[in-house]
Amino acid sequence: MRISVFRRAHFNAAHRLHNKQWSDEKNREVFGLCNSPNFHGHNYDLEVKMTGEVDPETGYLFDLGVLAKIIKEKVENKFDHKNLNLDLEEFKDKNPTTEYLCHLIWTILRAEIDDKYDLAIKLWETPRNYVEYPAS
Ligand code: NI
Repeated sequence: MRISVFRRAHFNAAHRLHNKQWSDEKNREVFGLCNSPNFHGHNYDLEVKMTGEVDPETGYLFDLGVLAKIIKEKVENKFDHKNLNLDLEEFKDKNPTTEYLCHLIWTILRAEIDDKYDLAIKLWETPRNYVEYPAS
């Protein structure tokens, strides 16, 4: 039986969206409040989806306690209460948009989870704006 399980998590982080190649005016025009020079915070909500075959011995697809621990150690501990621009090597030369952050989280979790499971990530930057990877 093929099925999906989900785990939700949450972290807070600060960022600034800015393209160094552009004028301050163009940056303000394109990124709006997210270009605010002294950074600003978001309450990110994360949804991790795993899909695969149920293990007949346990009746589980995957132990959600184990998934929770992986997310805590690899994602929450890495991003929570961080400045994405200043604290994360991955965003040294890349805009910390929800798109890139979602892809980075997928890459981190993909390395932790057996290839027999499909993995998909949704990341909310605000209650109304979210991104998913892989694209559906
Ligand atoms: Ni922002």
